Amino acid sequence: MTTPGGTGLVRDLTDEQARAALVCKWGLVEPDVLPAWVAEMDYAVAEPIIAALQEAVALGRTGYPAFAAGGRLGEAYAGFAGRQFGHDVDPGRVIATVDVTAGVRLALDVVVPPGPLVMPVPAYSPQLALASMCGRERRDLPVDPEAPRAELDLDRLEHEFARGARVLLLTQPHNPWGRVFTRAELEGVRDVVTRHGGWVVCDEIFAPLPLGEHEHVPYLAVEGTAEHAVGIVAASKAFNIAGLKCAQVVTGSAALHERLASAPMARNDSWSVLGVEGSVAAYTEGDAWLAEVRRTLTARRDEFAALLAAELPLARMRPLEGTYLAWVDLRAYGHDDPAARALEIGRLQISAGHDFHPGLTGHARINIATSADRLAEVVRRLRLSLT
Ligand SMILES: Cc1ncc(COP(=O)(O)O)c(C=O)c1O
Repeated sequence: MTTPGGTGLVRDLTDEQARAALVCKWGLVEPDVLPAWVAEMDYAVAEPIIAALQEAVALGRTGYPAFAAGGRLGEAYAGFAGRQFGHDVDPGRVIATVDVTAGVRLALDVVVPPGPLVMPVPAYSPQLALASMCGRERRDLPVDPEAPRAELDLDRLEHEFARGARVLLLTQPHNPWGRVFTRAELEGVRDVVTRHGGWVVCDEIFAPLPLGEHEHVPYLAVEGTAEHAVGIVAASKAFNIAGLKCAQVVTGSAALHERLASAPMARNDSWSVLGVEGSVAAYTEGDAWLAEVRRTLTARRDEFAALLAAELPLARMRPLEGTYLAWVDLRAYGHDDPAARALEIGRLQISAGHDFHPGLTGHARINIATSADRLAEVVRRLRLSLT
């Protein structure tokens, strides 16, 4: 089944296909549970990616990847960034790494001097542990749950840098805020950071997935950021290939590139050769599929908002500008942990808000990257659980 008006490039998986394909999202739940949790999409992988992987395997391309910066992957990403974001990337300055979180760790460990890390919260939950893993204090930059729009609190950011923070972990488009930051917002971040000689490590895993009319601006595409920022990107979320294990670390400065590229091999040698093949295919042959998946997700987003308004009118959701992960305030229904109730009563697996924002009750993150029918069922099960 495809979205009405779609080109048919993006194909919904049946339950059986999804269970076979998505061993985490669908495989880790009981058979009667509808999964709308981990960030994977219930859509078939794009044909050019499947073809590239099949060809690579047939050639026996299953050894080590080419351990060097740039190469085919650098060319492919630079082409993609130019077409999608108007961002001029030097292909030789694209460094492969196993995944985005590892790229963030690499940047923190190799480039950023010791000192506290500022973490906007709610945050992608596994990354809440990153500061302590990298020997840093974590300073949270929370969004007020009452705020009509999730915004970076630049005054507080300034305050944190003034009292010793060294680096901001900036995720954009933001999971789970659903925000696509504007150029003006990013310039605001740049101004604070440069005033204090700080750093930005930018997780742009969702860069290809702004929705509707929104446009992603890579942080490194903002003037005056090259000397203090490292970007980490991947085709993994937008093309559903996270398991292939290949992300890219991007810099705008020769000196920063040199430091990252000359890190000891034991620090960064785990990306996979099939990840390179899949990413090259996504970046060079995936534009039409990507355009279609963005249209599909934009349609799902609008349907989800309408379903919530009709069935759970007390739910609050800020406009979802990017990603396919909706952050929903369900406090009005009076349950501290709506995700636990959804699982127990509705047999629906969604993500508990407190995992992303420690101490915050009554919120959940809901993955809307599924078929229209399943999305309606998600909301039906949620209503059953909460009302
Ligand atoms: C913002 C963000 N960063 C990183 C990741 C994880 O990516 P990886 O598996 O490449 O580390 C996710 C996964 O959903 C994410 O949402």
